[in-house]
This record gives sequence, C-alpha cells and structure tokens, in this order.
Amino acid sequence: MSKYYLTTAIDYANGAPHIGHTFEKVLADAMARFQRLRGVDTWFQMGMDEHGLKVEQTAEAQGVDPQTFCDAMAETYLRAWRALDLSFDAFVRTSDPLHMKGVQALFTRFHDNGDIFKGNYEGLYCVGCEAYYQEKDLLDGKCPVHHTEPKKVKEENYFFALSKYGERLLRHIEAHPEFIEPEMRRNEVTNVIRSGLDDISVSRASVKWGVPLPMDPSQTIYVWIDALLNYATFVGLSQHDDATRAMWARWWPADCHVVGKDITRFHCIIWPAMLMSAGVELPRSIYAHGWIMSSDGGKLSKTAGNVVDPVVVGEELRKAAGEGLAEALMHEPLRYFLLREVPAGRDGEFSWDLLVERYNADLANELGNLLNRALSMTHRYFGGTLDGESGPAEPLDLELQAVASDVIPKYTRAMSTWQFSAAMQETWRLIKRANQYVQETEPWTLARDPANRARLVRVLATLLESIRIAAALVAPAMPRSAARIGSDLGLSWPSPHALKDLEWSPRLFALGHTVGAAVVLFPRVQAPKPAQA
Ligand code: MSP
Repeated sequence: MSKYYLTTAIDYANGAPHIGHTFEKVLADAMARFQRLRGVDTWFQMGMDEHGLKVEQTAEAQGVDPQTFCDAMAETYLRAWRALDLSFDAFVRTSDPLHMKGVQALFTRFHDNGDIFKGNYEGLYCVGCEAYYQEKDLLDGKCPVHHTEPKKVKEENYFFALSKYGERLLRHIEAHPEFIEPEMRRNEVTNVIRSGLDDISVSRASVKWGVPLPMDPSQTIYVWIDALLNYATFVGLSQHDDATRAMWARWWPADCHVVGKDITRFHCIIWPAMLMSAGVELPRSIYAHGWIMSSDGGKLSKTAGNVVDPVVVGEELRKAAGEGLAEALMHEPLRYFLLREVPAGRDGEFSWDLLVERYNADLANELGNLLNRALSMTHRYFGGTLDGESGPAEPLDLELQAVASDVIPKYTRAMSTWQFSAAMQETWRLIKRANQYVQETEPWTLARDPANRARLVRVLATLLESIRIAAALVAPAMPRSAARIGSDLGLSWPSPHALKDLEWSPRLFALGHTVGAAVVLFPRVQAPKPAQA
C-alpha cells in the first residue's frame, strides 16, 4: 500500500493557537484526509515547539516553570485542534524525553562528522523568531516579522558547518524541483543559497530551557535544531527496538512538510543540510503556504490585538445562525472558508464579514439548500423511499452526470497539488449545476401527473447521486458535514476510501432506497459581527 507522511510546523508553546496557525493545520488536515480517502496509508504529524528563550521568558513572566506552562498550553492546543477535527496521528511535544535523546544522538553524529565546532558568536537575535538576523535583513533596525529591535548576543557557541552544504543543496533542488513548492519560494531559497551560506550558531549558553548539548551540558541546543528534528525523532529515527525500526522503515522519508512562507530557510536549507550531515535521506517536498492577514492587510499579532481564536469563531457562528447550526458542525465553515478563500501559495484575508458572506453563499444557499430540496422532495413525493422503476436517462440527466465526471479528475488534480481553493471551486461547480438541474427538471411539475412517476424517480435519483459525489469531494474540507450528508442520504457513508474510484452511479438511489428527513444543515446568518470574532 502506498504511503504518505505529512507534517506541519510545530507551533511555539508561548501563546494559544490563532487563525494563522489554524490555516496551516487545516491545509495539512485536508491533505491528510484526501490521501486517506483515496486509500493511501497516511501518517499526519503536528505538535508543539516547547523549548527556547521565548517560552522560557513567557513562563517566567507568569511565575511558573516552563514544563508546567507547556503542559497547560498543550491542553489548550489539543482542545482547539480536536474541536476543529484535525486528524493527526501524533501530536508531538519537544520536551518529550525520547525526542530529546534523539536530538542529542543526532547532534553527536554532526559532531562526529566534523560539522560542529566552537567559536565566538556576536549577532542580533530576535526572540519572537528565535532567529539571528544580519543587519542587512532588518527593516529600520527592526525584525521584519515582529517589528521589534533584535537583541545583541555575544556568546561562545557551537557552530554547524552549514557553508559546506550549499553546492549539494543547489544540486538537489535542481534535480528535484518538487523539493520546494511553490516555485516562488524555490526561487527565494536558491537565491539565498547562491548568495553564500554562513556557518550557523547551534547552541546557546544563556538559555536553560532546552536540550543539553551532549559534548558540553552547560549549553543548550538551539531551539530550531531541536524543533526540526521532531520530524524524524517521532517516526522512529532512533531505531532502537522493533517498533521504532518498523516506524522508520514505514514512514521515512517524509512526503511533505507543510510550513509558512516565513520559515522556508530553516526547512529548505538548514534541515536538509543537517540530514546530509547525518547521512539521512531528505524529505520529498516542502510546501510553503502564504499567511492569513487581518482585513486591513496587517499581520495578526497579539500586540495589534487582532488575534482570532478559531474556537470562538465557530461558537459565534453557531450563535449567529440562531443555534440551528449543529454543535458538531459549528467549526466546519471556518475550515471550508480557509481552504476556499486563500489561493494556493498566496496570502489570504480573514474577517468575520468574509466568513459570513462565504458561509451564506456556498454553504447555506448552495450546498445546504441542495440537500434540503432533494430530501424534502423525496419525502413529499415518495414518503422518503424511492420506489418503482426509474425512467431512462434524458439529456438533462446526462449533462449533470457529465459535469460530475468532469469535476472529479479536475478536483483530484487540484487537491493533489495543494490547490484547495480550485478544488473547492470545482466541487461547487457540481453543486451549482445540481441546483440548476432542479430548476430545469421541475420535479414539482412532474409530480402532478402519475404518468411521470418513472421520470420523477430518475430525476430524484440523479439529484441524490450528485449530492453523494459532492459530499465525497467535500469530505477532506468538512469531514463531519460530509458524514452527516452521507447519513441523511441513507448511505453507510463515508466509506473509508470514498475518493477512491469515485464515479457516477445513480443506481444506488433507485429501487427502495430510503433517505433521512429533510434538514437545514447550514441556516443563514444575518447577525452583525460579534465583539470577540
Ligand atoms: N516553532 C516554529 C516552527 C518550528 S517547525 C520545526 C514556528 N512556530 S510559530 O508558532 O511561530 O508558527 C507555526 C506555523 O504557523 C508556521 O508555519 C507559521 O508560518 C504559521 N503561521 C503563524 N502565523 C501565521 C499566519 N498569520 N498565517 C498563516 N500561517 C501562520 O515558526
């Protein structure tokens, strides 16, 4: 069975998850679900980056030790990610002793290969990024991401010989362009490598909250080295027993690391160089997504006070929908919004108004309405059970079928290449066409004359089939809604491999098929923007 190992960046434990983190996790979750639904054995890993100065300082400011602080933060993250139905197979935490042992073992390997040396470091450090900056990369003397002045750091540190790996990295990227997607980010990274790589400082003398250096426990390993290694340590890198050996053989190399555009240098330069040093195969690809910005085009940040809690968004949406939106489904519209609204690889915007607009247009008016119409007509004209012979397919039926058959491969191509917005647009092409089919076939007119009964069976079966296909296509984005639609259609669905060999088959809905009661899955929202969202 083919396999797919997918990771997200692990989030800094210093603050609660916001809509930007949510965007990345939802992208990855949609991909993981897409792979599973087409029958690919998938390992989806995400988690928390717990070490380093930033977390140490935040915990200290709250008067708790960093471990206690991280334990509480892990609860906050897991609560949010479970509410959003993220289907991770592992939630990693870098304070896990097994991971820390793995980091030390790898560091020793770099050292044994002659890639670690001692030197004096003097540079500018941004705690927000947990990264060093060169003067030329600052904007008006400030970090371009956090707009704060980096701190001067002067320490005796251990260095990693990154400069040795520039040529090999370039050759690898040339031979495997898919290693960095999209192309825009690949070009940025190759430009950085071409301009020459400096050796990097990989330990900190002044940071206590981290993995002690094996050859000098008075220092801790630079938090980025520790964090990057999670991708390998949690899938059995140590290979110390049968279980870890089997995991490593099954999952490594990673098929894709999903990360934000701000951290490509760490993932596309430092990480592969470390793997080269350790003699470990490189991951197959790194996909860098854009950022979610606030509606004024600004960055979401705690200081700007525009950080959006994803869980609150769903709760507020439910209230605004007059509680008619089921609790189990209240976080699905945000998932859909993030996938539909942001063009692949680009930045996107989040605002309550945009969310409501998208929700009303696509979920309430199109998908929800389609389901409601199909179920209520099946009940009105057949008591919920389609019976009797189905008439032959007519041109309108074949047109709808042709749209579905055209949408499926286009959707599949788009999903396979992270073009989720395009994939959702394809799906809605089918949904809109199905709503139009209802207008064109006028089941209410057919129902007036019993002589049309066989035709009416055919029309409703065709309609229900288009909804079955749409629900399968929607499943990676809105898994709970898809499952709910499946059961409303009277199917034991979704099958674990609903996207494998998906094809048009209206026979499912004829001859005695019973559907559930008519429902309004997504009631329209009229309410104005709530204060918290
Ligand atoms: N801890 C590091 C990653 C280590 S991975 C070995 C880190 N953490 S972070 O919490 O700052 O960011 C985690 C991920 O969220 C990154 O991929 C980052 O790009 C992403 N995002 C943070 N804010 C974002 C938006 N506003 N929009 C989209 N993604 C954003 O970096």
